[in-house]
Amino acid sequence: MHITVVGTGYVGLVAGAGLADFGMHVICVDKIQEKIDILNSGEIPFYEPGLKELVDRNVANKRLSFSTDLRSAVEQSLAIFIAVGTPSDEKGRADLSAVEELAHDLAQIVNDYKVIVTKSTVPVGTNRWIKSIIDKEKKNPVEIDIVSNPEFLREGSAVEDFMRPNRVVLGSDSQRALAIVKDIYRPLYLIETPFVITGLETAEMIKYASNAFLATKISFINEIANLCEAVGADVHQVAKAMGLDRRIGPKFLHPGPGFGGSCFPKDTLALAQLGRDYESPIRIVETVIEVNNAQKERMVEKIVNLLDGNVKDKTIALLGLSFKPNTSDIREAPSITIVKRLLDRGAKIRAYDPVAIDEFKKLFPETLITYCEDAYSTAEGADVVVIVTEWNEFRNLDLKRIKDVVKKPNLADLRNVYDPIKVKNLGFKYTCVGRIVKEPH
Ligand code: UGA
Repeated sequence: MHITVVGTGYVGLVAGAGLADFGMHVICVDKIQEKIDILNSGEIPFYEPGLKELVDRNVANKRLSFSTDLRSAVEQSLAIFIAVGTPSDEKGRADLSAVEELAHDLAQIVNDYKVIVTKSTVPVGTNRWIKSIIDKEKKNPVEIDIVSNPEFLREGSAVEDFMRPNRVVLGSDSQRALAIVKDIYRPLYLIETPFVITGLETAEMIKYASNAFLATKISFINEIANLCEAVGADVHQVAKAMGLDRRIGPKFLHPGPGFGGSCFPKDTLALAQLGRDYESPIRIVETVIEVNNAQKERMVEKIVNLLDGNVKDKTIALLGLSFKPNTSDIREAPSITIVKRLLDRGAKIRAYDPVAIDEFKKLFPETLITYCEDAYSTAEGADVVVIVTEWNEFRNLDLKRIKDVVKKPNLADLRNVYDPIKVKNLGFKYTCVGRIVKEPH
């Protein structure tokens, strides 16, 4: 079967390469010539573990190709996967302009029966709207069907998540379209992946509800962590014991500097806006957004407090800039809030990240930040070292070596990577999120 995937971001490229690996013939289409040129030259425009191998393998066996020619790709394909971006507009609504433009374009092109499969995260009602645009404007009297197939992959483990998902959600009114998409995902049946078949609106809602629930778990544990600090409790032990209750589960209860990335911040805003639009406000999600913004600001105060409130002309060494490990993505990363606030207060920033420095330079050029080559060179002369992202290479630092090169032994561990007692015993002044820093009696 021939498939077109439109959009070569994280979702589109992983889905395109994954579907080619399932035996489909896939053309990944993007409007941006530069992206297609990069892909055709054998490079991947962003960092995602395992993706290059998957792309290379399927390009070599001629099941995967890249093009800017939407018409030619669609004419050859039975299924067209939509994986274009849906960023937030100024009100927090999902900006559907790329989806809308694609629907207009498809209407001009469709030459035969096609299944349109939406992977982009879109508000409830969007799939029906896409179908209505194409039906109204189509040049040829052909039938089309639409399937909502939300994607649940995580950046950093996207390939694994695509190949071994917890579930596949397919929403549609058309049995014919569902049969075709189920056939595309047949390899996942063989590994007993649960398939959830629903209507269009339900599938759209499943995606938002899932992301908002995970974001809620994170904001919940962050607020518990803050309270733990006030009452002298240890949030790791609290989270562990909570997670042992199978109804709660242990995942997404790790406190930190607040969630970031291209999904949770955008999807919580969009769901809250959807609730307001339908006069059915989702107050929990509204609060999650507020709590998350406050958590990022709180991290700034933690750093400032380690410096006894005096940040001006102090050197701050930041370890990790991406919103989480194993990605070069810095969208909505806590590092951005931290850097902005500290620069505003007159601090000098040194920073290192294994892969995100180039992205970060687009926001904060070298005139504002000194970028370094590793954790130890970053720490040189620092008044405080801050672990912002829990990359593996920051989990086992030689803290004695760090202590030798810094100006002041202050450590702000915003991901709770280190044992507070051990760090204190090495002579550091230490802060983390929600754990007891005192030695037990
Ligand atoms: C998230 C979802 O996990 C995916 O299922 C979904 O497909 C994706 O959004 C999307 O909508 O496309 P992702 O944004 O890649 O994936 O990242 P996560 O691993 O979920 O982490 C999100 C943020 O939460 C990160 O900033 C991370 O540091 C933070 N986090 C996560 C915590 O602070 N604590 C936790 O316990 C877990």
